[in-house]
Amino acid sequence: MSFASGILTGKSAIVTGGATGIGSFIVRKLGALGANVGIVSRKEENLISAVNEFKASDDIDVAWCTGDVRDPEGIKKSFDQLAGKIGGIDILVCNAAGNFICPTEDLSWNGWRTVIEIDLNGTFNCCQAAFPHLKESTDGGRIISISTTQADFGWPGAAHAAAAKSGIQNLMKTLAAEWGKYNIRSNWISPGPIQGTEGVDRLIIQQGLADQVLERVPLGTFGKGEDIANAVVYFSSDTGRYVSGAGLAVDGGSQWNRGR
Ligand code: COA
Repeated sequence: MSFASGILTGKSAIVTGGATGIGSFIVRKLGALGANVGIVSRKEENLISAVNEFKASDDIDVAWCTGDVRDPEGIKKSFDQLAGKIGGIDILVCNAAGNFICPTEDLSWNGWRTVIEIDLNGTFNCCQAAFPHLKESTDGGRIISISTTQADFGWPGAAHAAAAKSGIQNLMKTLAAEWGKYNIRSNWISPGPIQGTEGVDRLIIQQGLADQVLERVPLGTFGKGEDIANAVVYFSSDTGRYVSGAGLAVDGGSQWNRGR
């Protein structure tokens, strides 16, 4: 699948957690379609190596700034700085996330709090930090949050992430209702298992669950990072202009195949 070249020319996008995993596929796709892209994450070495890689393999110049989505004031500064470099913020992709598998009875308060702070509070912080810029977007700002299909069900071993992602989905609905008047759309994407990501490597393959997970994917394979990136383009471009408060599962149909 490909979009018309230059479909995002003139747009400026920030992707949190854009140096690695699904975020890096989103950056490549937005950049390839003409957007000016900035990435934010905690580790400078990851950011620099990703920016060099984007340049070497895709000939894309990506701006970067360190920032922790858990720090509301810090992330505002990072976004303002990046907006200055990339020409504002038309598109915000809330992709940064943390997760680990732990039975709820063993989950420490700090473990619970850490994931809620990164995923849910972090998304709130980023939306607020981007808001003044999104409001100024000529064709209407776009917020796209990366959730998971697991948020719509129970997620044994990941109560923190499931609760956070459900909260994110509801935040997107509320922002769709509140910020529509500012011409800002808020939507979310729920990826299924995407190959080559930490989520699949650490939470599925290393747990010995690959076959079990694949059996539940009706289309029979793990997804690709590009599948998620294409969904982001749909929401970011004119194709998604009348869509707000909506979720799109990109999971090979697996959410509806949960066994008898
Ligand atoms: N099982 C049980 N508890 C765990 C854990 C695990 N696998 N990993 C972390 N924790 C607990 C820690 O023990 C700590 O709680 P404690 O103080 O009660 O011991 C708490 O979580 C915070 O851990 P810490 O390592 O200090 O947090 P951090 O901010 O450095 O890291 C995480 C954040 C925990 C989300 C870490 O997994 C991370 O940085 N991941 C980044 C990438 C990622 O998860 N991507 C998502 C893939 S789907």
